Amino acid sequence: MKVGETHYRSIWRDGETGAVRIIDQRWLPHEFRVVTLKTREEFATAIRDMWVRGAPLIGATAAYGMAEQMARDPSDASLNETWDVLHQTRPTAINLRWALDRMRTHLRPLPDAARADAAFQRAADICDEDVEINRQIGLNGLSLIKEVAAKKAPGDPVRILTHCNAGWIATVDWGTATSPIYHGKEAGIPVHVFVDETRPRNQGALLTAWEMVGNGVPHDLIVDNAGGHLMQHGEVDMVIVGTDRTTASGDVCNKIGTYLKALAAHDNGIPFYVALPSPTIDWTISDGLAEIPIEERTGTEVTRVQGKLADGTTTEVQISPDATPGRNPAFDVTPARLVTGLITERGICDASAKGLADLFPEHAK
Ligand code: MRU
Repeated sequence: MKVGETHYRSIWRDGETGAVRIIDQRWLPHEFRVVTLKTREEFATAIRDMWVRGAPLIGATAAYGMAEQMARDPSDASLNETWDVLHQTRPTAINLRWALDRMRTHLRPLPDAARADAAFQRAADICDEDVEINRQIGLNGLSLIKEVAAKKAPGDPVRILTHCNAGWIATVDWGTATSPIYHGKEAGIPVHVFVDETRPRNQGALLTAWEMVGNGVPHDLIVDNAGGHLMQHGEVDMVIVGTDRTTASGDVCNKIGTYLKALAAHDNGIPFYVALPSPTIDWTISDGLAEIPIEERTGTEVTRVQGKLADGTTTEVQISPDATPGRNPAFDVTPARLVTGLITERGICDASAKGLADLFPEHAK
């Protein structure tokens, strides 16, 4: 998508030097900083400390981290160690394991001398595939937006609530939950997005809002607690969120607070959709609550917030008493029964083992 007049992906290789560049998301929306990642350790830090985040982008970044390491040391030992180092960075998003497995399986049979080039090519393929998957999710989700728009008076916007940031900056491009929104806008359908701020790290307030501004999408930032109220008063037509890991039975793990939105949507008869790229499906598990590891991040993300001062500099302040500890589970699981449908690159399906197996028969047990 565009930043100003320039089209960006969230990760790319410099055309001249081949260096891997990312948009350092820690500074958005107030500062747009691009940084180069070189060593495996830099890639690991960038994922762990959330310079990049969002399930698909975490996977793409790990793939390039493995490629950079292959250029330094293409041995089997280095390949396996790199898989471990990068895999330990964040536990919940399955795209990380998916991308690392895909890289290692491709590289292992190759002679050492061929590994670096093959790794960079495979990482680029993963990025290109991600863009195409998200584009298709957008086109499939667009049909849902069109259905709602068709029942409204001309000019009345389709009102969509989203949580966290499942936008282009969380993927390589387009986003997952935002892709139907961007496609709706391109198709000339009026849309209005309610952006959950998404405490503690405020990915909605910082990143989704930035995306909406950048792409001219009408939106309101709302506190996380406002969604239920807006739903009760008929102000939300549908919810679309992303996911970090979805089980083979359709349980959805996403940013903390997603479950509460699903409950409120269910209680108010509002469709709750999950935009789901297939690399985010963990085909090995079916009980989301029991089997998905939930990342616990530092409590200081809860006790402190980041913002912009009047002089334009970005700073962090403490909001709670010195002695109060923060507890910070970063994701929650929404059971399949609360999900209206999964918007995948192959179409929309029920959040169920059958729904997913029908769309992806090659994975069906
Ligand atoms: O902790 P984050 O910011 O990496 O969490 C991101 C989310 O929860 C997104 O909704 C999810 O990764 C889907 S991104 C297309």
